[in-house]
Amino acid sequence: MKFVLASQNKHKLAEMQAILSAHGVEVVMEADLGLQVDVEETGETFAENALLKARAVMEASGLPAIADDSGVCCDALNGAPGVYSARYGGPEYDDVSRYKLLLANMRGAHTRTAHFTSCIACVFPSGDTIEAEGICPGTIAFAPQGTGGFGYDPVFFLPELKKTYAQLTPEEKAAVSHRGKALAVFEKKLKEYLG
Ligand code: IMP
Repeated sequence: MKFVLASQNKHKLAEMQAILSAHGVEVVMEADLGLQVDVEETGETFAENALLKARAVMEASGLPAIADDSGVCCDALNGAPGVYSARYGGPEYDDVSRYKLLLANMRGAHTRTAHFTSCIACVFPSGDTIEAEGICPGTIAFAPQGTGGFGYDPVFFLPELKKTYAQLTPEEKAAVSHRGKALAVFEKKLKEYLG
């Protein structure tokens, strides 16, 4: 079974493939099908944006499309950057400047608690949808640590493991991460749906 990932993010593809391939699901990127669907993320929630992305790519490809909308929410910043995680700081920012901006905005914060959320939406050509959410609590580190992963991984610290996401192997990250948890829920719902 082939699904299109409604994203240009190869890291997300790798994380999704690692988990879904065990269930006979092949995940390809839009680019593999010669597609590049630009979707304006106008939703106010991760779930709304995931559905918007998946629906647009399903319509463009005619294949089941799966999208993940995710981000990090910091308690001291009233949930920011949240759904704006990818756009934090503006279009000229890259991953490193975004997490540096987050560290700057967290300076002197009364609490460093935060969580990552991932909402996964899958839209089938029939119009059926499957949605799943995963949350991973943690804190924002005082300085970046580790070289793995992507995005805010070097500054997202897991107190129980005493490591940032960027210090985990892909398997370790998948076992605890917001996306790993959302994918586990998604996997279960997909099995039920296909069954
Ligand atoms: P999206 O592609 O619109 O869902 O944007 C997600 C944003 O949150 C991007 O800026 C990512 O860098 C960040 N993000 C999402 N998942 C992760 C993760 O697992 N680690 C680090 N950053 C992430």
